[in-house]
Amino acid sequence: MKIALSGYGKMGRMIESAAQSAGHTIVLKADIGAEGAVRVGSAAELAEAVKKSGADGVIDFTHPASVVENILALTHLGLPIVVGTTGWYDKLEEVRRAAQTGGACVFYSANYSIGVNLFYRIAEYAARLTAAYSEYDTAVSETHHRRKADSPSGTALDLAKAVMRGNPHKKETVFNAQDIKDDRLYVASLRVGSVPGTHRVYFDSPADTIELTHCARSREGFACGAVRAFEWLAGGLANGSLKKGALYTMDDMLVD
Ligand SMILES: NC(=O)c1ccc[n+]([C@@H]2O[C@H](COP(=O)([O-])OP(=O)(O)OC[C@H]3O[C@@H](n4cnc5c(N)ncnc54)[C@H](O)[C@@H]3O)[C@@H](O)[C@H]2O)c1
Repeated sequence: MKIALSGYGKMGRMIESAAQSAGHTIVLKADIGAEGAVRVGSAAELAEAVKKSGADGVIDFTHPASVVENILALTHLGLPIVVGTTGWYDKLEEVRRAAQTGGACVFYSANYSIGVNLFYRIAEYAARLTAAYSEYDTAVSETHHRRKADSPSGTALDLAKAVMRGNPHKKETVFNAQDIKDDRLYVASLRVGSVPGTHRVYFDSPADTIELTHCARSREGFACGAVRAFEWLAGGLANGSLKKGALYTMDDMLVD
């Protein structure tokens, strides 16, 4: 398939090689200034460049400040769009309406690693099992490199949601160790060195601890997952199993 990349930073470059290894062609690398990419000064210019490139769809890993504008401009083209950029989900309804109007499909995920998405499900199941035994308390922790902008990570927040779906006794998250009450799920963050991302769930009783860990070795898992999402989205639209004008997530793609 022919893929246009919106954003040619760390993830854009990694997606380029993951897509090429999977046999796809990158027909456009668009960025506001990265070396080796076509320079685009606005969302309208991005949409124009994508249109000219003849791409079958777009993968966007840019910046929270501009991603919504990009998506809104791209939806007019009616192409599948895979969005990896995080930090814009408060605008989801606006994007949903634009996708409907433009007939575009938007796939979004805060974490494209297949392993992390399986981990959410495993954690939810483990939380459900341990919730039946009042002696078990639960907590979530995450460790990342020191340059990470957000804390806690979006993945830790999604992991906490999965744990709370499994364990109804935990009703809200807290990030300060002083605030932990029985019905609160503590989410702890550690920043050190160059760790790409480690997430843990603890189920602790007076007698023992059950610990589940997901440890990312590199960003490759995100890139491969985003390419897979693109293939699933474009393939599903071509064979009629997916609807135009809709939003999709990893939950739609992963097999139950
Ligand atoms: N969903 C996931 O699995 C996942 C994984 C890793 C990173 N991310 C997210 O992806 C985003 C990008 O991450 P990164 O590590 O590649 O960052 P990066 O800073 O290395 O690259 C971002 C690139 O986007 C370009 N850019 C910024 N605004 C633009 C615009 N309006 N149009 C075109 N290009 C633009 C920048 O010039 C830069 O080259 C971040 O939001 C990050 O949190 C998501």
